[in-house]
Amino acid sequence: RWTTVDTYLLSHSNPPSQPNTGALQHTLTASASAGLPDLAVSPHQAKFMALVCRMMNVSHALEVGTLGGYGAIWLASCNPQLQVTTVEHDAYYASVARSNLEHAGLSSQIDGHHGEVLGGTRPRFGFVFIDADKENSWNYFDLAAGMTKPRAAICVDNVVRDGRVIDATNSHPHIQGGRLVIENAGKDPRVDSAVIQTVGEKGYDGFLWSVLK
Ligand code: DHB
Ligand code: MG
Repeated sequence: RWTTVDTYLLSHSNPPSQPNTGALQHTLTASASAGLPDLAVSPHQAKFMALVCRMMNVSHALEVGTLGGYGAIWLASCNPQLQVTTVEHDAYYASVARSNLEHAGLSSQIDGHHGEVLGGTRPRFGFVFIDADKENSWNYFDLAAGMTKPRAAICVDNVVRDGRVIDATNSHPHIQGGRLVIENAGKDPRVDSAVIQTVGEKGYDGFLWSVLK
């Protein structure tokens, strides 16, 4: 039912007449054909983040974990003035994303990087989306907090994981990574945070939302 409801909601909140529909659908199809895992952010979450960027008048966003470029295409296509920098560790994923960005006509608005994020230096961003290797979510968060402007927002994906987040004895790095970023962000004097549980076509999960003071 979550998937059926998501489909209904999307058909109205982002109807097929929207100019980005073709590029987004192509990105999903081409990414699946190329063998990428089906782990892209949900359309609702991506559009929500894009609208937050618009509300906050963000000029430069950073995404950690490009996969096939689906999330970056949402952010850019909803915000023509927004420059998106997106970083992908996997060379093959980065090459698929590059082709998807070109197909979407967004190569000049989205700066796709292949390589390491840890230790990099970047401009000061207004929004950061962390959606990469979950065991490093806190490391990315810590770095992002130092690269963002005052009052910038940082969103961390996949921190609830079917509710397994509350199981301190679960040693899976995805669960421990989520707990670490939630607990450290909560103690971090640089930010104020909320965690939102979500259901939909991607199942039951949730995201951490932090705002720099
Ligand atoms: C996984 C990663 C994601 O970014 C996501 O949104 C869902 C699942 C995963 O690695 O299992
Ligand atoms: Mg994710």
